[in-house]
Amino acid sequence: MADTRIVCLPGDGIGPEVMAAAVRVLGELPLDLSVEERPFGGAAIDAVGDPLPQATLDACLAADAVLLGAVGGPQWEGGAVRPEQGLLGLRKALDVYANLRPAVRGDVDLVIVRELVAGLYFGARGVRDDGTVFDTLEYHPAQIERVVRIAFELAQARSGDLCSVDKANVLDTSRLWRRVVNEVAPDYPDVRLRHALVDSAAMELVTAPETFDVLVMENTFGDILSDVAAAVTGGLGLASSASLGDGGPGIFEPVHGSAPDIAGQGVANPTAMLRSLALCLEHALGRADLARRVERAVDAAAPVATTRDLGGSASTDDFTEAVLVSLTQEEAWTATS
Ligand code: IPM
Ligand code: MG
Repeated sequence: MADTRIVCLPGDGIGPEVMAAAVRVLGELPLDLSVEERPFGGAAIDAVGDPLPQATLDACLAADAVLLGAVGGPQWEGGAVRPEQGLLGLRKALDVYANLRPAVRGDVDLVIVRELVAGLYFGARGVRDDGTVFDTLEYHPAQIERVVRIAFELAQARSGDLCSVDKANVLDTSRLWRRVVNEVAPDYPDVRLRHALVDSAAMELVTAPETFDVLVMENTFGDILSDVAAAVTGGLGLASSASLGDGGPGIFEPVHGSAPDIAGQGVANPTAMLRSLALCLEHALGRADLARRVERAVDAAAPVATTRDLGGSASTDDFTEAVLVSLTQEEAWTATS
C-alpha cells in the first residue's frame, strides 16, 4: 500500500464536481498515493444522518492530508443538524488552527491567516428564557499566540510585512489579541508589524490591496475579509486555502461554498480546488515542485478554457482537460530539454 494517504471529502453542491477535477489532476502526478473518498456534509446527513460520520473522521485523522470540496445547501436548512457542523467539527478535531488564504492577482500578492478553531464560531451559544439568542467570542492567549507565530513566520518567509487585524477600539478579545501580537513581535525583529481595525482593513483591501503582504486575524473577521480579498483578486472561483495544525493532517479546501445555484451543471470553475491541491502538495507532501507545476498548468488553462464565472463558456471538464494537457506538455518538454 502507498505510504501517503489522501482523504477526499467531496461534500455537497459543486463540491463533487471540483473534487473530480482535483482527483484527475492528482492522478497525473508522479506520486505514490492512496486516495480514498468519504461521505461528508449534507451528503453524509442524507446517507447516515451525521455530517461528520465517525468513519470519515477516523479516515481523516489517519491521513496525511484531507482534500475538501464544499458543504451546505438549501435542502439542509432548518434541519436538526447542518452540513456546516461537519466542517467545523472536522477543523476542530484536526486542530487546524491556522487557515492560510492566499489572494494573488497583478500586483496584489497577499495571504490572510485566519484563526480557525476558536473565537465566535466556537464560543458558548444558546437561547435565554426571554427568547434572546447569543453567541460568544472568547480567546485564550495561547490560542492567539500559536496562530500569530505562524503569521510572523510566514511574513519572514515572504516580504516581511505583517498586518494584525482586530477591533481593539471595541472588543476586549481584540485588545488581548493586540497585546499578544505585541508580546510575540520582538521574537521576529525583521518583520514590520502594523495593527489595523477590521473595518478600515476591509476598506483598504478594496481600495489598496497591494499594500498588504500577510494579514492575521480572528476566525469571523478572517471569514469575511477572505471573501473580500477573493473578490478583489478575481472572485471566489480562484481562492484556495490550507488549514494547518501542529503535525497532524491539514485540510485543503476552496474558499467558496457549495454554490447550489450552479450545482449539477458541470460549469463550476475548479481553479480554487486545484490551487488548494497545490497547497496540499506543498504543505502536506513537501512537493513545492509539483505544486508549482499544477499552478502553472492552471494558469495556462485559464485563457484557453475560460469558465462562466470569468465570462467564458468552458465547462468544468473543459477546464480540467486543459489543465491535464498543459501538465503533460510541460512533462514532455522537461523530459526532452
Ligand atoms: C469558509 C466558509 C465556512 C466558514 C462555512 C461554510 C461554515 O464560509 O470556509 O469560509 O464560515 O468558515
Ligand atoms: Mg467563508
